[in-house]
Amino acid sequence: MKQGKIKILFVCLGNICRSPAAEGVMKRLIKEAGYESRFFVDSAGTAAYHEGEPADSRMRMCASSRGLKLTSRSRPVGIEDFYDFDYIIGMDNSNLDDLKREAPDVESLAKIHKMTDYSCKLSYDHVPDPYYGGTDGFTLVLNILEDACRGLMESIISSLDN
Ligand code: 4NP
Repeated sequence: MKQGKIKILFVCLGNICRSPAAEGVMKRLIKEAGYESRFFVDSAGTAAYHEGEPADSRMRMCASSRGLKLTSRSRPVGIEDFYDFDYIIGMDNSNLDDLKREAPDVESLAKIHKMTDYSCKLSYDHVPDPYYGGTDGFTLVLNILEDACRGLMESIISSLDN
């Protein structure tokens, strides 16, 4: 079994909407399952436009309505992330393309996965960017993330048992 914490990095474009929400959802699931000591969870963006900013106020409000407090500050993905993290989870195909282009070696490439590949009940092939849309888009992001983060956690935990 893996020694040390399992490290998961969620990645979107700006790191102010989807990936901070994924970080919050995953941390809550891990806490509820009693696995806090086993995981480290963070998020980052493929672009640095919003570096240092808190999550978008619309995303924070939508998360808050589900009892989730988002506290992360935006930061860009760095080369060291590819070595530090075990799982690097992109929200859409554009995120995946950018991450694959930046990956420094084959081991890093193998860490890159798409969030919706872990979906359990919902069938979306990406987490849609809610930034230029209305409230419904933020609600949909949280619905997709709650489903897919559950699948991700089950997948990781079952791989630990093997
Ligand atoms: P995110 O959403 O990638 O889910 O954080 C976006 C945030 C900002 C922008 C685009 C998407 N932007 O163009 O500034």
